[in-house]
Amino acid sequence: MEFNTKMALPEAFKADCVAVGVFADGVPTASARRIDGITRGALRASLASGDMTGARGTSLLLRSLPGVASARVLLVGLGKPDEFGDRAYADAVRTAVKAAGPGSTSLAIAASEWRVKGRDARWHASALVTAAREVPFRSDELKSKKDENVSRLARIHLLLDKRDPGFEAGLIEGRAIANGVDLAKRLGNLPANICTPDFLAQQARKLQRDWGIRVQVLDRRQIEALKMGSFLSVAKGSEQPPRLIVARYQGAGRSGFTDPIALVGKGITFDSGGISIKPAGDMDEMKFDMCGAASVLGALRAAAELKLKINVVGVIPACENLPSGRANKPGDIVTSMSGQTIEVLNTDAEGRLILCDALTYVQRFKPAAVIDIATLTGAIIVSLGSVHSGLFSPDDELAAELMEAAQRASDRAWRMPVEDDYQDQLKSNFADMANIGIRGNAGSVVAACFLARFTKGMRWAHLDVAGTAFRGGSAKGATGRPVPLLTQFLLGRAAA
Ligand code: BES
Ligand code: MN
Ligand code: ZN
Repeated sequence: MEFNTKMALPEAFKADCVAVGVFADGVPTASARRIDGITRGALRASLASGDMTGARGTSLLLRSLPGVASARVLLVGLGKPDEFGDRAYADAVRTAVKAAGPGSTSLAIAASEWRVKGRDARWHASALVTAAREVPFRSDELKSKKDENVSRLARIHLLLDKRDPGFEAGLIEGRAIANGVDLAKRLGNLPANICTPDFLAQQARKLQRDWGIRVQVLDRRQIEALKMGSFLSVAKGSEQPPRLIVARYQGAGRSGFTDPIALVGKGITFDSGGISIKPAGDMDEMKFDMCGAASVLGALRAAAELKLKINVVGVIPACENLPSGRANKPGDIVTSMSGQTIEVLNTDAEGRLILCDALTYVQRFKPAAVIDIATLTGAIIVSLGSVHSGLFSPDDELAAELMEAAQRASDRAWRMPVEDDYQDQLKSNFADMANIGIRGNAGSVVAACFLARFTKGMRWAHLDVAGTAFRGGSAKGATGRPVPLLTQFLLGRAAA
């Protein structure tokens, strides 16, 4: 799907379809009124008859209106003007793309009136692309018969009434974000028998070929040499060998790889729970337990596509969590790369066991900031559902920066506490710490507190995306979150 801007009036520009907005209670936008005037009331008739109310999410397709260059006019409900915010805007774009998609290959959107207060041109263009690109995404690469009703829409034109270079910049940003999101969705949706730790490593290598991101893949022996006893303890229950993927995007200068942003992604390609095995219902969804890793690859791709003038290092510990004769057992004590010992009271709390070693590993890059991204706890779903990702950071400044990025990217996060009061729960009688706290007692916070023990001296934030990185039920699938948030954060760093 290609996007561009056009300085043109909605009735004069020729596309397969032109979309104009109608606000709630049938209040037409200026573009709709223009077309109504030219067609001597064709729109007003639809509004008066109640065919179109302007309610959010509604649309009405009209054909062959006299005096209109495009064969179709699509009325798009924008909802109440004072409620036209970020989400209503994205809804309107998705509605337009969905409604135009089956019959039209080109769509012009009379976008000048689709304005969200407080948002600039760049935001409008970027948000338009990311919303539009959600519509045609399909996950049918493993189906022998491809999904039907695939959108035929190939070109989207933003019809503007005034020039602003922000629109072009936003289209480029939006495309990079959408490409990163698509990559994260595709990898997330792949089943664990295909998307293995080594497969993830191959995907990272592909980023090297296509985008010049330097990739290093460490195998079990090299991970052993690093003394990542905690990560390895999770990996050893599986026949699939673990991989530590290190991907470096060097956009700041040619000299050294200095002050990178470190992105650490949980790459559990399947989480059965291990010996503390999960119940069978919905266990298939644990193929999504590498969505953190996928979002790191997506954000790296976006950074490279945007040629951001910053350095970014992505670190992905990748393995399976399975029960076997070699698997972690409850009560086992392992030694992490940091030297701290961990009593594995529950083998299903494995994410923190692989992340802690990856967080110790990134110290060597002296990162300007470290963000880990993980489908870490079921408890975050209890707290925030699938709306907000949980944002944990002892660093107020970094947290504020991430919150800002989350809002701008419409990839929302909610700040959660990481305070020492919760650390008591991790006390162990036999090791430096246990890997779980008290059942039903701030599980997501305790998990973050566990990670905090491995990030001393670094500016660090943790995103728990267990509720946001994928959907279950009939809409089952990866969402690509939090690639928009991460890319927006990197964009902000590059601009600073
Ligand atoms: N991968 C899961 C968390 C998860 C649950 C992600 C549901 C997505 C949907 C994680 O490894 C896990 O099993 N966490 C346990 C921790 C508990 C044993 C302390 C959990 O949340 O139940
Ligand atoms: Mn688990
Ligand atoms: Zn897990």
